[in-house]
Amino acid sequence: MTEPSATLLLFGATGDLAHRMLFPSLYNLLGDGLLPEDFLIVASGRSTLDDASFRKDVDAALRKFLPQDRYDATLAERLTGMILYSPVEAGNADQFQALADRVADRIDKGISVYLSTPPSLFAPTAQGLSEAGLVGPHTRIAMEKPIGKDLASSKVVNDAIGGLFAEESIFRVDHYLGKETVQNLMALRFGNMMFEPLWNATAIDHVQITVGETVGLEGRVSYYDGVGALRDMVQNHMLQILSIIAMEPPARLDSTAVRDEKVKVLRSLRPMDADSVKACSVRGQYTPGAVGGAIVTGYADELGQASDTETFVALKAHIDNWRWTGVPFYLRTGKRMPARQSEILIQFKPVSHSIFGTRGHGSGLEPNTLIIRLQPQENIRLLIMAKEPGLDRGGVKLQEVGLDVSLAHAFAGERRRIAYERLLLDLLEGDPTLFVRRDEVEAQWVWIDSIIEGWKAAGVKPAPYAAGNWGPSSAIALIERDGASWHD
Ligand code: BG6
Repeated sequence: MTEPSATLLLFGATGDLAHRMLFPSLYNLLGDGLLPEDFLIVASGRSTLDDASFRKDVDAALRKFLPQDRYDATLAERLTGMILYSPVEAGNADQFQALADRVADRIDKGISVYLSTPPSLFAPTAQGLSEAGLVGPHTRIAMEKPIGKDLASSKVVNDAIGGLFAEESIFRVDHYLGKETVQNLMALRFGNMMFEPLWNATAIDHVQITVGETVGLEGRVSYYDGVGALRDMVQNHMLQILSIIAMEPPARLDSTAVRDEKVKVLRSLRPMDADSVKACSVRGQYTPGAVGGAIVTGYADELGQASDTETFVALKAHIDNWRWTGVPFYLRTGKRMPARQSEILIQFKPVSHSIFGTRGHGSGLEPNTLIIRLQPQENIRLLIMAKEPGLDRGGVKLQEVGLDVSLAHAFAGERRRIAYERLLLDLLEGDPTLFVRRDEVEAQWVWIDSIIEGWKAAGVKPAPYAAGNWGPSSAIALIERDGASWHD
């Protein structure tokens, strides 16, 4: 780990992500004594604001988005006291120069740039920084998703940023990697002896990854329409989860070893085509319905017009490598689902020889299941077989019982951190392990592009589902055709 950057340049500082996540995260890091002594945050946006009024906005955001018992006026004042505001419009060289003048004497102490702007501004912002003399060996840059909308456009963004920054100074954010629960997948797999010998096609029947959200468009119409669930959630968050679940054990816990293993998985995903998308994918779009006891409108009504954008997607993915051949990975994610629930299910195969009679013939024998719940509460549940108490006159009866670990209870004294706390700290300290490397992004897009092209060629349109359901019924059929069912 290098010396932490003493300066953070935050672009898109007046936006929702900055207010909701980034400033509360910086506040928590400051409270824990994790920011450098003379830390400076230069916030930038298009609005013309002075330092004092922007500081007031940040204070209001902290009051709104921190849990009530965490807001402390003195700490908030310390944080806002570290913030300067510099209005910057892409392409305005004078404004970039004015920004550079404010940090000129700090360049040698390291600058971290965070782009929380629309992706169309990534390249012009990096260019503006470069022309103002702010890009050098002491500068690193973080970018929020999405990096492009397909492989070709992601390459344009990566080329533009890569022309100014070395790959090890580029930090592509996938906030799921900042979640404690996602990092815990590695602890579970590689910190325990018992799972790894079974973690393969010999013992595992299939894997399910579900990320369900109850929210709808949330005012993000201009971003979401034309993007859809596949690009918004699968291309990044779900493929990152899948790659951690499926990767080979890395030799070390460092950025090269971990990301080398993840990219191998991503490159082993079997591409789809017009035929396979029909069998292995489902697109859905929510119509009016009820979620959590409230009546909600449909996607098209929220949008104000009909649209072919999917708000739900279910996929059957194949990883063509030695470990996973023949093991389907079922993925599904959607808006307006019945519950905010993210989980991974590992379905083991039946025992190779049953001494208790056959499955489904009264013995109660079922294959083991491991359920790793990521959100909202983190817990791990292993379903194992136990004998039902009794004298077994009609033969031994088995029953599934759960070995349950609630991580919230196990670590009851620990504050659950915002994912961005970890990511901001790693950016400032220059550790890219939990950020996405260029080859990962590109491998993700290769697979996603194959699905999008398959959909186009086969004319697959989103099927309607009433809000408050787990997608269209074809998503149920997708997995039930294989003799399995979604875990709800
Ligand atoms: C974002 C997506 O990346 O992740 C959103 O753009 C989605 O559409 C969000 O709602 C989900 O994140 P989380 O942390 O709430 O699961």
